[in-house]
Amino acid sequence: MSPTHNSDKNDLSVVEVASDDEDAVPSAAGPPSNGGLADKSSPASTAQAPQKTGASNLALSAYEGESIGFRSFWKAGDYAVGPSSKPAPFEGHLEHARVHPKFLHSNATSHKWAFGAIAELVDNAVDEIQNGATFVKIDKIDVMEDNSPALCFIDDGGGMDPEAIRKCMSLGYSSKKSKTTIGQYGNGFKTSTMRLGADAIVFSRATHSGRATQSVGLLSYTFLRRTGQDDVIVPMIDFDISGNWAEPIIYNTHDDWSANLQTILDWSPFTSKEELMLQFDDIGSHGTKIIIYNLWLNDEGIYELSFDDDAEDIMLRDEANQGGTVKRSYKKMAELRSHVSYRLRFSLRVYFSMLYLRKFSNFKIILRGKPVDQFNIADELKHSEVVRYKPQQAIAAKEVTVVTTIGFIKEAPNLNVSGFNVYHKNRLIKPFWKVVPDGSSKGMGVVGVLEANFIEPAHDKQDFERSLLFIRMEARLKQMTMDYWFVTV
Ligand SMILES: Nc1ncnc2c1ncn2[C@@H]1O[C@H](COP(=O)(O)OP(=O)(O)OP(=O)(O)O)[C@@H](O)[C@H]1O
Ligand SMILES: [Mg+2]
Repeated sequence: MSPTHNSDKNDLSVVEVASDDEDAVPSAAGPPSNGGLADKSSPASTAQAPQKTGASNLALSAYEGESIGFRSFWKAGDYAVGPSSKPAPFEGHLEHARVHPKFLHSNATSHKWAFGAIAELVDNAVDEIQNGATFVKIDKIDVMEDNSPALCFIDDGGGMDPEAIRKCMSLGYSSKKSKTTIGQYGNGFKTSTMRLGADAIVFSRATHSGRATQSVGLLSYTFLRRTGQDDVIVPMIDFDISGNWAEPIIYNTHDDWSANLQTILDWSPFTSKEELMLQFDDIGSHGTKIIIYNLWLNDEGIYELSFDDDAEDIMLRDEANQGGTVKRSYKKMAELRSHVSYRLRFSLRVYFSMLYLRKFSNFKIILRGKPVDQFNIADELKHSEVVRYKPQQAIAAKEVTVVTTIGFIKEAPNLNVSGFNVYHKNRLIKPFWKVVPDGSSKGMGVVGVLEANFIEPAHDKQDFERSLLFIRMEARLKQMTMDYWFVTV
């Protein structure tokens, strides 16, 4: 299956469901039949003509006249689907499976927790360390005419060439073959951007086989929904920047290229090609910038993410407010809520500080202008011990040893915090995972840290697949907690 091909619809790229990554490699001639630019229809017929009257008024009015239902993530999938505008496949023409825009939304619901989605985009930058990345910056930016906040991620990794950006915006394609990368499913970018906001625009610069390119791609749920698309159309444009200027890379006709550009301008915060190009200024010679806008609101109509509580942090409003205000008399409760095990639920800085197990030597996560200090709770445990065990694996698998550091949190016995921080390939999957039943005083204050590479994370990377190995690991950690408790207390 070719990664992006659309020959019978608009002049715009269509993302497809992958069947085989290898098949996706297009011919040496360039990216996949370009972002699917067809040679039939004129730009005038493009994409059921995105309606926009004034410059950038989309940014201002993406949701004008829409109920809160469409601005709240959990309700945004509820819209009626009209009859398909797609003609029936004609004889002898092999139809490919299409992806309805609604799928983008339902796919994103795999992320219940917005920070889990943010982590996916940071993972993608961390995976670029092997291509030279030294930082990822996460910030709120003001590019919207209506002053609504947008989220911006910038890294200085290897970036994406025209082929790679098409894979990035397609479903199920992962370029990652190495065993050490966090990314493996080819889905994180799509689920996470669509979980955080209705629209995302990507800018990327890369050099591949001696050719320097820059590309722009737009994954816009607003565009797809408002223009009644029944396939996921992703407008994209590329430039060759090997020379002294940015030369548009035309795969079919110039009109097709212009149609893609126009759709990007119509449905992004940027109103001219020049404005769009300016976005590359803070990328450097290679790297990627992702802007997510029309961020989702919570059920009460307020932005899920809060940028105002702390100028150096991003807070998750509903998690932070959970449990209401803590009265002073409930000192214990207040102490508990100020512990990292609680704060990581609603403070992005705290979550980021624990997101990766090993400290980076030459890479920084810079949140709202300030680098994040990495923190491993194993470093401050009291009476800590290292416990090793060998999970019983399938016979063919090579033997592994799981190393767990276990001990009491420094606040023990005064604070009721316990559980295991379980990492997979350096990435935190389960924070403070309680394996001892709630209410049991045994194990109180006992915390452990381990890296479990022998099991597979679930697609949202917030849990593991419920395999036999996982169930055995849970039993083993429970036993470990009890053994430690009875020997140490
Ligand atoms: N910041 C980035 N820099 C360079 N390439 C990127 C970046 N983000 C995504 N990509 C490319 O896009 C592809 C798809 O990304 P995506 O996050 O959807 O999947 P993945 O990381 O491969 O797997 P997973 O679903 O497990 O995260 C990646 O394999 C990578 O080639
Ligand atoms: Mg990823």
